[in-house]
Amino acid sequence: MKLVIYPGTFDPITNGHLDIIQRAVLMFDYLLVAVTDNPAKNPLFSLAERVLMIQNSISDKKNISIESFRGLLVDYAMEKKACAILRGLRATLDFEYEFQMALINRKLAPDIATIFLMTHEKYTYLNSTIVKEIARFGGNISCFVPPIVEQKLKEKFKPI
Ligand code: PNS
Repeated sequence: MKLVIYPGTFDPITNGHLDIIQRAVLMFDYLLVAVTDNPAKNPLFSLAERVLMIQNSISDKKNISIESFRGLLVDYAMEKKACAILRGLRATLDFEYEFQMALINRKLAPDIATIFLMTHEKYTYLNSTIVKEIARFGGNISCFVPPIVEQKLKEKFKPI
């Protein structure tokens, strides 16, 4: 069974991430969405909140599961017997970072490939940081994120 891991901070999940998930699940036997803590990014949502939002955003979970992990991605990928790590690529902006990460991961675990899927062009400008910024100032984010994320962001930034 070919299991692919789709790792990320997902703070929060966006429609761009969901587009990658929907396309990748058709290519592999099993897709594991792996959410990590990433304290360097100072996430707005807790790990548990991020996992819950992803679970809520994917209706058909026949061959998808969502988990969290701590530590090195390659260690987790080996533990799960993943054949590949999947990452979405938006534009040249992502490339250097993704290239470095893929090469380091290959050095650490030569048997695990990193595979990239080009983001749909309608999501090339989208990322979680931009969405949080728009939400913080009360902008409309309904076309960028699933309904549960819109609701949770509204709660986070509710005026007190
Ligand atoms: O969604 P992001 O923040 O771009 O995802 C980055 C992520 C989580 C894939 C990366 O930071 C990661 O793999 N973190 C786990 C720790 C690790 O293995 N670091 C070395 C990777 S080069």
